Amino acid sequence: MGKVFASCLLTLAGLLPAVAFETFSGSCSFDEPYQSCGYSQSEHNDFNWEQVNTLLKPPSDPWMPSGSFMMVNTSGRFAGQRATLLLPQLKENDTHCIDFHYFVSSKSGSLPGFLNIYVTVNNGPLGSPIWNISGTATGTWNRAELAISTFWPNFYQVYFEVITSEQNGYLAIDEVKVLGHPCPKTPHFIWVKNVDVNAGQFASFVCMANGKAKTSDQLWLQGANRRDAPLKEIKVHNDRRFVATFNVVNTTKRDAGNYRCMIRTEGGVGVSNYAELVVKEPPVPIAPPQLSSVGATYMWIQLNANSINGDGPIIQREVEYRTTSGSWYDIQPVDSSSYKIGHLDPDTEYEISVLLTRPGEGGTGSPGPALRTRTKCADPMHGPRKLQVVEIKSRQITIRWEPFGYNVTRCHRYNLTILYKYQIGGLEQVREEVSWDAENTHPQHIITNLSPFTNVSVKLVLMNPEGRKESQELIVQTDEDVPSAVPLESIQSSTFEEKIFLQWREPAQTYGIITLYEISYKAVSSFDPEIDLSNQSGRILKSGNETHYLFFGLYPGTTYSFTIRASTAKGFGPSITSQFTTKISAPSMPAYELETPLNQTDSTVTVMLKPAQSRGAPVSVYQIIVEEERPRRTKKTAEALKCYPIPIHFQNSSILNSQYYFAAEFPPTVLSSALLFTVGDNKTYSGYWNTPLLPHKSYSVYYQAASRANGETKIDCVRIATKGAATHKPDPEPEEQSDHTVKIAGVIAGILLFVIIFLGVVLVMKKRRSYNSYTYYL
Ligand SMILES: *[C@@H]1O[C@H](CO)[C@@H](O)[C@H](O)[C@H]1NC(C)=O
Ligand SMILES: *[C@@H]1O[C@H](CO)[C@@H](O)[C@H](O)[C@H]1NC(C)=O
Ligand SMILES: *[C@@H]1O[C@H](CO)[C@@H](O)[C@H](O)[C@H]1NC(C)=O
Ligand SMILES: *[C@@H]1O[C@H](CO)[C@@H](O)[C@H](O)[C@H]1NC(C)=O
Ligand SMILES: *[C@@H]1O[C@H](CO)[C@@H](O)[C@H](O)[C@H]1NC(C)=O
Ligand SMILES: *[C@@H]1O[C@H](CO)[C@@H](O)[C@H](O)[C@H]1NC(C)=O
Ligand SMILES: *[C@@H]1O[C@H](CO)[C@@H](O)[C@H](O)[C@H]1NC(C)=O
Ligand SMILES: *[C@@H]1O[C@H](CO)[C@@H](O)[C@H](O)[C@H]1NC(C)=O
Ligand SMILES: *[C@@H]1O[C@H](CO)[C@@H](O)[C@H](O)[C@H]1NC(C)=O
Ligand SMILES: *[C@@H]1O[C@H](CO)[C@@H](O)[C@H](O)[C@H]1NC(C)=O
Ligand SMILES: *[C@@H]1O[C@H](CO)[C@@H](O)[C@H](O)[C@H]1NC(C)=O
Ligand SMILES: *[C@@H]1O[C@H](CO)[C@@H](O)[C@H](O)[C@H]1NC(C)=O
Repeated sequence: MGKVFASCLLTLAGLLPAVAFETFSGSCSFDEPYQSCGYSQSEHNDFNWEQVNTLLKPPSDPWMPSGSFMMVNTSGRFAGQRATLLLPQLKENDTHCIDFHYFVSSKSGSLPGFLNIYVTVNNGPLGSPIWNISGTATGTWNRAELAISTFWPNFYQVYFEVITSEQNGYLAIDEVKVLGHPCPKTPHFIWVKNVDVNAGQFASFVCMANGKAKTSDQLWLQGANRRDAPLKEIKVHNDRRFVATFNVVNTTKRDAGNYRCMIRTEGGVGVSNYAELVVKEPPVPIAPPQLSSVGATYMWIQLNANSINGDGPIIQREVEYRTTSGSWYDIQPVDSSSYKIGHLDPDTEYEISVLLTRPGEGGTGSPGPALRTRTKCADPMHGPRKLQVVEIKSRQITIRWEPFGYNVTRCHRYNLTILYKYQIGGLEQVREEVSWDAENTHPQHIITNLSPFTNVSVKLVLMNPEGRKESQELIVQTDEDVPSAVPLESIQSSTFEEKIFLQWREPAQTYGIITLYEISYKAVSSFDPEIDLSNQSGRILKSGNETHYLFFGLYPGTTYSFTIRASTAKGFGPSITSQFTTKISAPSMPAYELETPLNQTDSTVTVMLKPAQSRGAPVSVYQIIVEEERPRRTKKTAEALKCYPIPIHFQNSSILNSQYYFAAEFPPTVLSSALLFTVGDNKTYSGYWNTPLLPHKSYSVYYQAASRANGETKIDCVRIATKGAATHKPDPEPEEQSDHTVKIAGVIAGILLFVIIFLGVVLVMKKRRSYNSYTYYL
């Protein structure tokens, strides 16, 4: 054994340690110090392997093997202590096999420790053991082989590690040989390739081996993270070559690292080279996309995806957008750094995020941070439709329209206003009200405070911040209502003694078509307390186009109240009352059939005075008038002016050249019954001197009664006596003759005509200023 290594030792003596490892073949028979084969003890050992040569120092223990070898004595060691022997670093160009002998013995027969073999590559991490001993301590030398497929320019190093158990015993290795041919019992791996995957995907390691396919439980993948990967399949090419595939599923960054394939056989173990698993994290943008501009149905965004978490390269960019309500989702590829998303809904909030993809399956990262933004409102699609009136009252109307939804408003912020206008008194009133019913499935609105019988023009306006749309205009005439009162100042009358002509105007607010006027009238009072007014009332109706009426058959001097109200189809409005008074009438004098007095002397005439009948107002005074008869042509014209409104005292008559004078005046109480009165009795009545009549003159005696009320005076008079001249004068006759017998006077007419005409003309000229009417006002 030892002779093989003689040359090695010689070479080692003369060379630098750095060059030295190239010269060690890795084989060692331990006849010489193990250092001469390039072997070494680990610096981290708890204790060292011992090199034993029983030829030089016979064994003291029967359990110890004999020969020259490396040994670990576990006696007196705690469990878990470590001793590691390192082979020199090996750099092989060809298929080779490491063959070694090992020995385990103990008194008890159970293992005194665990022998593990590690293979590091390029001074990499130890990894887990590729081989170990199990079973019992046999106390015999056994052989095992290592088929290590790591080749130049990579180098590897084999570690023999013993970890003590609680048993006392010996573990030894000997005859380590690096053979220039394949291992006879153990397949050699040809290659396993690096794998690049995206996180979350599975990584497939394909291990190709030379040799006979083994059962799957002998094959496994040894990974940096010590995770056992399940064998997916074994594909046998022929009896000398097979391929085993291993998957690392749901890869994460932590799975990245080196993996190698292994096969364990009866006689040893095959180890492939390390293949690297590179796990790439799919890229995710760090920042949300940026909004460049937004409209009602589109958005321009900047992807803003230059900063990413995860790995590149980025081969694809996509925009993912969804409504925040979750009703819509879409994803679209993007080929530039800004992108327009179209066909969006107005006034809707969207979440937009960017998806980035790197090569390989599962290379699409999760969506980046989302941009949350809302599209603008669009102007309403159309105005409210099917506007109709469902109820018309005199002061309010109820309208209804077709309900509409978001697809019409195209905005969640909108309002519906009711715009209506109408004319009142020639002035246009424009009003606007907001409907609070727009969301209802049967929306309606009541417009109140309208004026009856008015044309109202109504339309609805749908408004949102972007625009407005109107409905069609609807013209509705409000219903009639009862009219207002007839204006008081319009009621006017023309009053007469027994008639009143009343006129009025239509109410200020007709509130419809005036169909009727109703006038109720009623006597309320009279100047004459005697009059019974109970019958003086009534009611008349006039059609709406007539605003006047003549009331007749009334009492004079009586105040009537007139109550007028107008009516439309809806009924009567409020009434208004006005009062008017008929004119009073002159009292009616009692009838005097004969103008002959009861008694007559030369200077007196006795007459019977009877009370007058009052008409509308009581008689306020009685008067006796004495008129001197003078033969005059003008007498006839004066015939109509038979009453005497102006009182003239006898004393003044001559001054005034009056033909008459007042002989007496009585208050009505004196004449409550018939009274005998003597004209010319030389007494004074109420200041009037009843002067004795002149016997040679002719007189007419008049009896006159006057009523005074309401600022007017009405007088009536009657001739109650005449007295002829006592002496025979030709004068008294002409009155009678001219009245009755024109023919008799015919002869003398010729003589007197000129005189009469002359006198008549003079008289007319003088009297013109006299009484034109028997009524006069104070
Ligand atoms: C093994 O170690 C024990 C305890 O240290 C010792 O008694 C024994 O002699 C050792 N065996 C050999 C062969 O040196
Ligand atoms: C292995 O091959 C390389 C390159 O061909 C060569 O430089 C090196 O010396 C070879 N090593 C052995 C041990 O043959
Ligand atoms: C020895 O190797 C086998 C097969 O890989 C393994 O199941 C066992 O747990 C290992 N024993 C120890 C002590 O590591
Ligand atoms: C891998 O991920 C998939 C999907 O998430 C899951 O169904 C499966 O159970 C995972 N497998 C393992 C081994 O974790
Ligand atoms: C709005 O939607 C309603 C039903 O949801 C439909 O009847 C109506 O025609 C739509 N209007 C428009 C303008 O699309
Ligand atoms: C309302 O308008 C209609 C049609 O223009 C018209 O016939 C009617 O007289 C009007 N009504 C009123 C109260 O003005
Ligand atoms: C209705 O909406 C429009 C647009 O938003 C706004 O200008 C207007 O003031 C609103 N009107 C009312 C009464 O709220
Ligand atoms: C007044 O009423 C009475 C009884 O009610 C009646 O007899 C009389 O004829 C009426 N007179 C007038 C003028 O209506
Ligand atoms: C008032 O109207 C009625 C019916 O419409 C008609 O017969 C009558 O002649 C009208 N009167 C006047 C004064 O216009
Ligand atoms: C008329 O008057 C005279 C004188 O006073 C008197 O005597 C005479 O009786 C009277 N006659 C009558 C009818 O009264
Ligand atoms: C008429 O006579 C009365 C009484 O004699 C006297 O008071 C009065 O002033 C006279 N009137 C006139 C208008 O002369
Ligand atoms: C009238 O009365 C006056 C006195 O009052 C008297 O002087 C006169 O004589 C009387 N005349 C006659 C005709 O009686």
